[in-house]
Amino acid sequence: MEATIKNIDTKLKTPAQSRADFPILQEVIYKNKSLVYLDNAATSQKPQVVIDSIKNYYEHYNANIHRGVHYLSQRASAAYDAVRGKVATFINAASEKEIVFVRGTTEAINLVASTWGRKNILPGDEIIISTMEHHSNIVPWQMLCEEKNAVLKIIPMNDAGELLMDEYEKLLSPKTKLVSVVHTSNSLGTINPVEKIIALAHKCGAVVMIDGAQAIVHDVIDVQKMDCDFFAFSAHKMCGPTGVGMLYGKQNILEQMPPYQGGGDMIKSVSFAKTTYNDIPFRFEAGTQNIADVIALGVAVDYYNSLDRTQCLAHEIALMEYTMQQLKQIEKVKLIGTATNKASVVSFVIDGVNAMDAGMYLDTMGIAVRTGQHCTQPVMDQLCIAGTVRASYMFYNTMEEVDKLVEGVKKVVSAF
Ligand code: ALA
Repeated sequence: MEATIKNIDTKLKTPAQSRADFPILQEVIYKNKSLVYLDNAATSQKPQVVIDSIKNYYEHYNANIHRGVHYLSQRASAAYDAVRGKVATFINAASEKEIVFVRGTTEAINLVASTWGRKNILPGDEIIISTMEHHSNIVPWQMLCEEKNAVLKIIPMNDAGELLMDEYEKLLSPKTKLVSVVHTSNSLGTINPVEKIIALAHKCGAVVMIDGAQAIVHDVIDVQKMDCDFFAFSAHKMCGPTGVGMLYGKQNILEQMPPYQGGGDMIKSVSFAKTTYNDIPFRFEAGTQNIADVIALGVAVDYYNSLDRTQCLAHEIALMEYTMQQLKQIEKVKLIGTATNKASVVSFVIDGVNAMDAGMYLDTMGIAVRTGQHCTQPVMDQLCIAGTVRASYMFYNTMEEVDKLVEGVKKVVSAF
């Protein structure tokens, strides 16, 4: 008999109440260590309802979508199609046509570079990104600039990890065709003033892409208020599965863009003489989609909507501030990324201790952190460090877990 996925409580959940929804957080590792999972910027954990959704799809209505008249296909198609509207509402897009399903933030950025970029960037045009970009918001633009003989310009940042807005204004000119910046830095936690960045770019007639991979969980996103032209994010950072991401694009811009990949679902008709392309967003969704995971993303959105977001965001900030306050009292520890406007990502270095060694030592205590450059090598280069230890929080983390991290770091300091 088909399992019924437990209805998500309608009463908004507090951060503390949410914890029981994540089975993995009860995990005991290395025989007797309770897992302390502080690597949420890499990927978040999944609530039981999301896990159940994937199992339920494969057990009960696995079928290809938009292709079959049979019951399973219709059911899968309806479940898949419903997610687009949920995502549109979640980020306040004007229409669900503005939501394109992709594999992740990286693919969303590559899609824009390959379609909008190839069509609109000409030799001598300028693209602006910032020093604190993830590699996935650097390399696609480098590739495009190389192909088109265009120029990549970089907004500098100070050593606290804040963008120098005066310098940004100086970079803008009529040659600027695109500005692509990260909303919330994955390695420093900085929350950038994206609305200001977007307004200034628009004054020059430039299009703006925002990498929202981290911001989607650390902020309430309103793409219309922000007025970005493109916004990219991944399901797996927001309690959904890996392998699914979203590209938001303003309808009038998406409509002018050529397709990304050729194949099924992106066409209206095919003949050897001429192929005509489908309407947006299907024009950008060639081939069989990641059906189970898109449906599970819809459940993750429902899950987010069941949370008291205000309390969750305040809790994440409290975790970050408490960590910073505790870590800075430890001799030899230096915080990296001390911007005034900061999300729940805490990076640090320990004098004389390689970040990877520190991470491995913390792991023996059951504490999962990320170490290294976090795919932001230019940040590390500017700060003249090889990498950092990074603790990144979600609403389900606790102050007790911060205490365990701080105790663990003290042990690392005395062990090396
Ligand atoms: N970009 C992800 C991180 O920051 C993988 O860890």
